[in-house]
Amino acid sequence: MAETDVCASIGPSAQAEMTPSEMLKVKVCPQTANGTSNFVYLGEVKQLVGLCAWWAFKTWGKYNRAYTFTKRIESFTEHCNLGKIPLTVLYLNQDGLPLGMASLRSNDGIRPDIGPWLGSVYVDPSVRRLGIGAKLVKEIERKAKELGYEKIFLLTYEETLPNWYLKLGWKETGEDVCHGNPVTVMEIDLG
Ligand SMILES: CC(C)(COP(=O)(O)OP(=O)(O)OC[C@H]1O[C@@H](n2cnc3c(N)ncnc32)[C@H](O)[C@@H]1OP(=O)(O)O)[C@@H](O)C(=O)NCCC(=O)NCCS
Repeated sequence: MAETDVCASIGPSAQAEMTPSEMLKVKVCPQTANGTSNFVYLGEVKQLVGLCAWWAFKTWGKYNRAYTFTKRIESFTEHCNLGKIPLTVLYLNQDGLPLGMASLRSNDGIRPDIGPWLGSVYVDPSVRRLGIGAKLVKEIERKAKELGYEKIFLLTYEETLPNWYLKLGWKETGEDVCHGNPVTVMEIDLG
């Protein structure tokens, strides 16, 4: 089966039944990998919804047990947008293999009065500390500004992570509680 046929045949329900290792073998359609950029939006590679959902489930599932893998599939399916939120960007290597993701959404579980929120920032453990995470954050900042937003927010569960975001130009705005877990809230001006 040609790679493009594989891409066309894998929908969210099929992905829900795939094991993580099978999902990691899913290649991006060659025609959607942009030769000048490592970024591709989930709306262009909908076959990767399951992979994004799996990355999020295994990373943040412990903070909200009610937010199942199936619900995350539904959520990332809603993130298949290009010019409006919610959206997700993926970082691809030269072979089109997805190595990480980041999202922009109107709400991330707290403070519905502010937004939008950078969320689901994830890089495959095998390629961490190579700058990919920072590039994903910067791409979401660029996209948010392009869409007309002047400020975006994030929340982080880990106490040490705010230091990383501080280095990327973000500032802490306070503490909060998300699904019973203490979180740090941060923001960045895009002006
Ligand atoms: C956080 C994450 C996205 C960073 O991705 P990355 O590609 O390694 O990021 P970069 O290479 O751009 O930056 C690496 C820096 O992040 C720091 N960092 C990564 N995880 C960290 C953590 N949990 N606490 C503090 N710093 C962290 C590293 O120390 C490194 O800094 P250094 O090189 O100055 O030592 C990645 O570690 C990850 O996916 N973690 C699990 C998911 C997660 O926690 N996401 C953030 C949700 S708010």
